Amino acid sequence: MKTRSGKTAGAIPRSHVRSNFPRQPITDLRANAVFLVGFMGAGKSSVGRALSERLNWMFEDLDDRIERRERRTVAEIFRQSGEPAFRRAEHSALQNVLDGLRDGARIIALGGGVYVHSNNATLLKSAGVPTVFLDAPVEELWQRCCNQASDAGTDRPLLRNPEQFRELYETRCRSYAKASLTIQTGGRTVDEIAAEIQQKLGLKKIELRVAQGEVE
Ligand code: S3P
Repeated sequence: MKTRSGKTAGAIPRSHVRSNFPRQPITDLRANAVFLVGFMGAGKSSVGRALSERLNWMFEDLDDRIERRERRTVAEIFRQSGEPAFRRAEHSALQNVLDGLRDGARIIALGGGVYVHSNNATLLKSAGVPTVFLDAPVEELWQRCCNQASDAGTDRPLLRNPEQFRELYETRCRSYAKASLTIQTGGRTVDEIAAEIQQKLGLKKIELRVAQGEVE
């Protein structure tokens, strides 16, 4: 199956988790997960991966989970079954992620449409997990998506033309703004943004232990 690899810049594949993460005793799920929301091109996957590296938390992109569960790419789901079928798969994958939060601390990048659908926003709200809206000027979002399409062949079914893109962005912004935290990403590096999220949410790094019991 062809994956959506290349959505994030750089050589790191969009796989979901590193396998050697320590299991932590978890008392409060709210301190154990961060969900990144925002429009296409906002940098949810690249910031999510950088933040997970700072914290030694796991990283997951919800679209990757959808693709594994459906055994086809997001673009194929849209093409073969239509957007409503994709939204059903998306909701079910989100539920599945929330059900598994006790398995370890993680950062989850959500596709651009997740948080604007009220059934998903309600799920996230009732789980009590923090959501972070990554925003940028719409022209920059469009440019980033076009660059990813030409550099990495990233196939976004809803990336059609600048007018439609802007209209969808403006329609969705009201929903994104309900996230726990909004971060402006325009003209900033991924690391700066990850550091700001860590600091504003007071996220704690997990210390990894090597085989002999030393703390890294
Ligand atoms: C979508 C955004 C995509 C992907 C799907 C639908 C949207 O994810 O989930 O193509 O509705 O905005 P990204 O936001 O990660 O590109």
